[in-house]
Amino acid sequence: MNLTELNKVAQAMVTPGKGILAADESSGTIKKRFDAIGVESTEDNRRDYREMLFRSKDAMSQHISGVILYDETIWQNAKDGTPLVKLIEASGAIPGIKVDEGTQALPMCPGELVTVGLDKLAERLKKYYERGARFAKWRAVIDIGSGIPSMTAISVNAHALARYAALCQATQIVPIVEPEVLMDGDHDIDRCYDVTQRVLNKTFQELRVQRVALEGMVLKPNMAVSGKKCPKQAPVAEVAEKTVRLLKACVPAAVPGIAFLSGGQSDEEATAHLDAMNRLGPLPWRLTFSYGRALQAAPQKAWSGKAENVAAGQSAFAHRARMNALASRGEWDSGLEKKAA
Ligand code: 13P
Repeated sequence: MNLTELNKVAQAMVTPGKGILAADESSGTIKKRFDAIGVESTEDNRRDYREMLFRSKDAMSQHISGVILYDETIWQNAKDGTPLVKLIEASGAIPGIKVDEGTQALPMCPGELVTVGLDKLAERLKKYYERGARFAKWRAVIDIGSGIPSMTAISVNAHALARYAALCQATQIVPIVEPEVLMDGDHDIDRCYDVTQRVLNKTFQELRVQRVALEGMVLKPNMAVSGKKCPKQAPVAEVAEKTVRLLKACVPAAVPGIAFLSGGQSDEEATAHLDAMNRLGPLPWRLTFSYGRALQAAPQKAWSGKAENVAAGQSAFAHRARMNALASRGEWDSGLEKKAA
């Protein structure tokens, strides 16, 4: 393992003014997104949609540091035969790959999940590296509910995250370590804080035990937020203050950067939260975005599967990418949203 090189890639992923496009929806998830805009989820439509994003010149070259791909996409070619990976590289962004294989029910733990995909992972990583991937992603899912999460679910998911991260580094691939605490419940922000703290502490304990070099990884956590169904929604300033406090308590400064998931926040909330956190600096690590929904909901709607809407889709994507890029520097202003609208 060459840690200097891994660290260089990790630093590039969290360059100030840039962030990561999470375009790694599994076939099931992208079908849900396409259903919402009335587009059939065929291989060609998925290709056309992602090609539209990767050919968004301004967004990709100025605001996107890396793109997380799904297995199907990393092997796909654009309409003119160019591999989609090459489009990403040509824009100056780094190709990455989602390598977990989703979740399964965790035995003896009703309602809880464990992320799978470690079997043959070493071989798969080698093939992805040859295709151009320089970073990877593995997502663990922790749900908050009555009596959950159990320490069992937290432990097995942290163990798998560390196994994956060590395998990535051995193949010269930067692991994005993503332990996602879901925001689906009716819990308040303090419960989210407590659970996320337990999850992050266990995750870093496992990363140490399994000798993962913290300088060669990127953390992708949830923010400390109120559950979606909680009657009391914490305001932006509280989310920012509590999330930064939580991360300072749990994430060693050796980690080059933290790239948040959006997790079901609205586009503008995800941007406002990131911006408010970056205004609380100086911070020990870079804070940026690795958004899926909060970057893509607008372009998906604008595109709606029609070739004549490609320019509109690209401009919606460019706008969200620019807003989040500004937020990664703490320079966003809600007035910029209204102007664009
Ligand atoms: P969201 O931003 O839509 O949560 O997606 C990010 C991601 O990669 C989840 O694994």
